[in-house]
Amino acid sequence: MASASLPLLLVALFLGSFGKILAQISSVRYQAAGSCSISTEQLRVLPTDYERDVLQAFTTTTAGTGLAAAAQELQNCLFQSYDPAFDVLIGNNRTLYQVGPTRSYNWAHEGTAYLPDSNEVLFFSDAKNPGQANRVSLDTGNVVPVPLESPIGAATGATNYEGEILVATFGDYENGIPAGILQLDVYNGTWKWVLNNWFGLHFNGPNDIVALNDGSFIFTDSQFGVTQGFSPGGAQPAVYLVPPTGPARVIINQLPTTINGLALSADQQTLYVSTVQANNSDPADAVPLDMSNSIYAGNLVPFGGGRFAQNSRVFAVSDHGYADGFKLDVNGNVFASSGDGVDVFGANGSLLGKIIIPASQSSQQTVNNLVFAGSKLVIGHNTDVLMLQLNTTG
Ligand SMILES: *[C@@H]1O[C@H](CO)[C@@H](O)[C@H](O)[C@H]1NC(C)=O
Ligand SMILES: *[C@@H]1O[C@H](CO)[C@@H](O)[C@H](O)[C@H]1NC(C)=O
Ligand SMILES: *[C@@H]1O[C@H](CO)[C@@H](O)[C@H](O)[C@H]1NC(C)=O
Ligand SMILES: *[C@@H]1O[C@H](CO)[C@@H](O)[C@H](O)[C@H]1NC(C)=O
Repeated sequence: MASASLPLLLVALFLGSFGKILAQISSVRYQAAGSCSISTEQLRVLPTDYERDVLQAFTTTTAGTGLAAAAQELQNCLFQSYDPAFDVLIGNNRTLYQVGPTRSYNWAHEGTAYLPDSNEVLFFSDAKNPGQANRVSLDTGNVVPVPLESPIGAATGATNYEGEILVATFGDYENGIPAGILQLDVYNGTWKWVLNNWFGLHFNGPNDIVALNDGSFIFTDSQFGVTQGFSPGGAQPAVYLVPPTGPARVIINQLPTTINGLALSADQQTLYVSTVQANNSDPADAVPLDMSNSIYAGNLVPFGGGRFAQNSRVFAVSDHGYADGFKLDVNGNVFASSGDGVDVFGANGSLLGKIIIPASQSSQQTVNNLVFAGSKLVIGHNTDVLMLQLNTTG
């Protein structure tokens, strides 16, 4: 918004409270009548005595004795718009619904995959409670544990694959579970390894995964499985492609070892990889923003009967926190978890706007993973799950 002349855009009603137990579907958690927007001029030129700590949100920017006028207008806004394209994507249903219960720990932290047969979303808990897998129904809000036939270690990523789910897991080396990729039936809990080594070397921390329609899949192997004590590591932390037959191959290795999220464009021709700060709460790590706050893009090109990643490039940098999990809509817009909630980037990498979601209990990030269920965005808010009807489709 260019000035206070459009006060209607400032309405943001925060309903509900943290820690409240809401078991039923469709309880309104946060709601706003519209967006708070900020002009390019205000965005680019703040009063010159502005200050902001990189560990805090843009809206905490101060100038002189108070908040900069521009940033102040964005305070307590659910939807922050920097480009009119943001409002088109968000559409008119400006309500974040809570689906299922709030729990005291991060049960909706990792994953995720949409299960169209049952209209459920799969979430894994965080590394403090490794290996818990739950399905949450978007119809009823019921949360059902996946009846795993045996433990799968610290599961972090999931994608649909041939009617089942491929899971990327850090494993749990001390309890005999290697790091790798497994195929899981989420209804009866049976699973089998698809990949658990690279020529005898342990993976470090398979973190996120996407499947291609030719039967191959791609995953990130990040250093986090080693630093968090789940795997001894050994293989190169990198992005691996696993073709339908034959060994796994490294396709990208010029990124920080803290590679994390992975997503694919709808035409499967562009691959996106996010990298994450090793320790987001350590100011020494966080200042200045380094390469580990970025989303990279690369073309996935057919060559020699296989596929290569070509023209790896910076797509976007998170100004607050980092992109952990993220997904694309059909038009290449990127919906990425961030320190603010969800950052929405256009296909050209421009930050169109943010969905500001207050931090969940016991997490540095407000949101770590999200997934499209058709035109609904389902957001893992760590202790609970939120859902937003969008004017676009995943
Ligand atoms: C679990 O479901 C899969 C189909 O997804 C089936 O092949 C398998 O036999 C089932 N296992 C058990 C123990 O029911
Ligand atoms: C991250 O940094 C904070 C602040 O320096 C420190 O207290 C914490 O122990 C660090 N965490 C890890 C996992 O190294
Ligand atoms: C980038 O894309 C957005 C829409 O997603 C558009 O509004 C903006 O003008 C584009 N920027 C450039 C430089 O083309
Ligand atoms: C808004 O979206 C929710 C689902 O997230 C849906 O139940 C509701 O009917 C929608 N409201 C309108 C006015 O479209």
